[in-house]
Amino acid sequence: MTGLGEALGGDLRTVLELAALAPSVHNSQPWRFVWDGARLSLFEDRARALPVLDPTGRERVLSCGAALLNARVALSELGHGHSVELLPEPDREDLLARVTISGSSEAGEDVRALAQAIPRRTTDRDPFDARSVPAEARTALRLAAEQEGAWLRFVSGDAADAKAVELQVLLSHADDSQRSDPRYLAELASWRRDREAEGVPTRALPSVPAELRASTWVPRDFDAASDSPKSRAGTQVGRDGSPLPAEHPAVLVLGTRGDDRHDWLVAGQALSRVLLRATVDGLSAQPLTQVLEVPVLRARMRHALGVQGHPQMLLRVGYGHTGPTSRRRAVEDFASVETG
Ligand SMILES: Cc1cc2nc3c(=O)[nH]c(=O)nc-3n(C[C@H](O)[C@H](O)[C@H](O)COP(=O)(O)O)c2cc1C
Repeated sequence: MTGLGEALGGDLRTVLELAALAPSVHNSQPWRFVWDGARLSLFEDRARALPVLDPTGRERVLSCGAALLNARVALSELGHGHSVELLPEPDREDLLARVTISGSSEAGEDVRALAQAIPRRTTDRDPFDARSVPAEARTALRLAAEQEGAWLRFVSGDAADAKAVELQVLLSHADDSQRSDPRYLAELASWRRDREAEGVPTRALPSVPAELRASTWVPRDFDAASDSPKSRAGTQVGRDGSPLPAEHPAVLVLGTRGDDRHDWLVAGQALSRVLLRATVDGLSAQPLTQVLEVPVLRARMRHALGVQGHPQMLLRVGYGHTGPTSRRRAVEDFASVETG
């Protein structure tokens, strides 16, 4: 039987490594891939669920969608033509997608740039530079989302929008509500991991604790449950204790028309394409998803935006620094070959 190393002319392992570099909620990497000799199937791994934060599995499926986009980009870059079917067998709920390899194809420059951005993309939780995101870059992000069947709208930044304040308040309410739930805190703490190939490590946290940041967009505090010193170093606070400059990140909402598992897969693929496009353009990003995790506040967010569709992701975007990377599991841990 052909092993993972030999499959697809030796390319399968590279495709899977690049797929696994996708962002995932709490770096839970909730995916499983199976190669059957001609097709790559993507399953969600429910053993990696976050039942408190994500009881419906929306963020888990979205994370799998992000890994799928990376796999598609990697296959294209390596010259493997392919077609994708989402939710190919309705009675097998955990089977999210099937990618059928079909001969060779020539990768365009755009795809090559996205593929090369995969290992460089990381979540940047530090304050961004004061530089604003130019209109061309914002348009490129919007087109990236639309290419995957999602919509994208800037709610803050240069294209300032009255909705921003409303969203900031909703985000802050969501953060307060989650932090007052001991079950949320316990789940979050269980994914704070420094020595393992999963979860969020200390080195990926911001160098400045949230309470010292001059930002009205509340980021998730991954150490909310701990008494240990927060942040990596705290080097960016002025020596005289002077406050940090006010942050004005561009903030965008990514959404879909519907809100079922198919839409969540669309959103995940769009998220990854948007993040890779941002990386190509020298931009950093950080999800701010607390508001999407409290159903009543997500509904209010939808209402505040006045959109027909459903918000799936809130992202802070700007010029930052290549951040420290969180680790990934070995390919053998999440992929297998099952032929015949
Ligand atoms: C659905 C989803 C929700 C996320 N929510 C947050 C969040 O609220 N705050 C945050 O800092 N990062 C968030 N992230 C980023 C993940 O924590 C990050 O992708 C993961 O830890 C792996 O790190 P990396 O992106 O640097 O590779 C989210 C990612 C996904 C896919």
